[in-house]
Amino acid sequence: MRTTYCGLVSETLMDQTVTLMGWAHRRRDHGGVIFIDLRDREGLVQIVCDPDRPEMFKAAEGVRNEFCLKVVGKVRARPAGTENTNLTSGKIEVLAYELEVLNASVTPPFQLDDDNLSETVRLTHRVLDLRRPMMQKNLMLRYRVAMEVRKYLDEQGFVDIETPMLTKSTPEGARDYLVPSRVHDGMFFALPQSPQLFKQLLMVAGFDRYYQITKCFRDEDLRADRQPEFTQIDIETSFLDEAEIRAITEGMVRTVFRKALGVELPVYGELTYAEAMHRYGSDKPDLRVKLEFTEMTDVMKTVDFKVFAGPATSKGGRVAALRVPGGGEMSRSEIDAYTEFVKIYGAKGLAWIKVNDAGKGRDGLQSPIVKNLHDAAIAEILARTGACNGDLIFFGADKAKVVNDALGALRVKIGHSEFGRNHGLFEDKWAPLWVVDFPMFEHDDEAGRWNAVHHPFTAPKDGHEDLMDTDPGACIAKAYDMVLNGWELGGGSVRIHRAEVQSKVFKALNISAEDAKVKFGFLLDALQYGAPPHGGLAFGLDRLVTLMTKAESIRDVIAFPKTQRAQCLLTGAPSNVDEAQLRELHIRLRNPAQA
Ligand code: AMO
Ligand code: AMP
Repeated sequence: MRTTYCGLVSETLMDQTVTLMGWAHRRRDHGGVIFIDLRDREGLVQIVCDPDRPEMFKAAEGVRNEFCLKVVGKVRARPAGTENTNLTSGKIEVLAYELEVLNASVTPPFQLDDDNLSETVRLTHRVLDLRRPMMQKNLMLRYRVAMEVRKYLDEQGFVDIETPMLTKSTPEGARDYLVPSRVHDGMFFALPQSPQLFKQLLMVAGFDRYYQITKCFRDEDLRADRQPEFTQIDIETSFLDEAEIRAITEGMVRTVFRKALGVELPVYGELTYAEAMHRYGSDKPDLRVKLEFTEMTDVMKTVDFKVFAGPATSKGGRVAALRVPGGGEMSRSEIDAYTEFVKIYGAKGLAWIKVNDAGKGRDGLQSPIVKNLHDAAIAEILARTGACNGDLIFFGADKAKVVNDALGALRVKIGHSEFGRNHGLFEDKWAPLWVVDFPMFEHDDEAGRWNAVHHPFTAPKDGHEDLMDTDPGACIAKAYDMVLNGWELGGGSVRIHRAEVQSKVFKALNISAEDAKVKFGFLLDALQYGAPPHGGLAFGLDRLVTLMTKAESIRDVIAFPKTQRAQCLLTGAPSNVDEAQLRELHIRLRNPAQA
């Protein structure tokens, strides 16, 4: 039997005999003495194999990387000067008495401590990748987080109830993963994009406080913070208002950070959606970056410069400035690189002004555009941005969405850059906030219709019900997002619990009564039986753990993730299936040659 984990052997066990099980992380032959770094999930310990125990020494000579070993030995102090302060076991080593190879290993395709492995290699050999200390640490923290979530919610009276995986489409706005029914020819289940409708049904059923840590499935374009199959901490409550729901869930995140990470989160910021877009161009602003937009739309209405005056005078247009303190020292090639960068977001250009001497007005400015601006506009730019000598001011002018996306991304890019860090534009801290007062609807100009910003079961603010008919764009929802360091960690809302309000929302969304009945009839039915006022929120567990571990990608906190192209390199999924299986499912492929 093992007496302790390798990574937990410390001075407290001095002179004791320990039995360890683990993997040979590294073996060094120092002419006569063999050192093996033995590794398990808790960390490394140095094993010393002396030739004066010939049988043990012979076994040690045959050990190679990733062999699975049992070692019995005595804990002793490392010789002075050879301690490793990075390890719990760094002050001691284990003098081996016995060494047994429990299983040999073929040569691994890579060194486990190689930090420059491609993700393809890592995901293909995920088992070995998961042996790496970083991955062990990440997944252990993920477990700790899930445990603390459960403890907290249990203490608050929440009940974990499972909901189906084989279900009907849920409207979270992504494409569904479908599962064909063998029993019902031509029919399909959808995997849930979230348990949204079921958790509402559980409230109608009287469970009052529900939670679940559960998988959700969304077939959407993948990014560093997205997976097609991901895990939500899903929460729903009855009889609580927006502020009360936020307080409970903020308490949860705060507790998890304290218990799992030893971090006390600061007081949460709070921004309305409108303010967040206005000041940062994003509904999930990274408040570690100390840069803000300055509104310029009104000022640019009167200038004789089409690039600015056009958007400033057209409906839905915006002109905004981003002042970068100290940015005057940026070279032309840096500015050109940023100009290319904002094009990713649809910007047509990136106008700029370098402020050499603000006191001299236009003569103190260096810029390709000041010649196009009248004196009053220039004075207003300097006054509103509060620009000082040595600053750089960037401008975005376009449809508001393009300006927000482009300058919003530029703000984060500059803040995180070496320049930003050297100029105090980035503060390394935890910056949590609530973004509240989301609009109910956003207009899809191409399709010419309104879509739900959150989902169609979100309640409008009190007094905003009639706006759904008259001015959908002005209707504000009881919806809220929790944001941390520029990531949307969770989102939720107070729900509609009256059937007549729900019908109004469907009407605004152009969903006919018949359509609503087919898609969500079971929810509408349930709402008729004394549905309680209810609301909730869902967190992305993967995102939460990614932030807590400071991992680069969500894939580093998921044991067996999918690639950016939604494939599992380990198992080779998705893959072809037998014709017989397809036949059973009543499916014929359209392009069998490609399959
Ligand atoms: P929403 O769609 O905002 O809300 O999702 C909630 C949270 O889930 C996480 N998330 C994801 N994480 C990884 N990969 C993805 N593809 C992905 N998509 C979402 C995010 C997000 O904040 N039913 C509602 C919640 C509610 O109203 O209670 C919902 O699913 O962290
Ligand atoms: P132009 O007159 O098109 O040569 O543009 C003059 C300056 O304005 C250049 O620095 C462009 O990068 C910039 N510019 C062009 N279009 C836009 C835009 N839509 N928003 C911000 N800057 C722009």
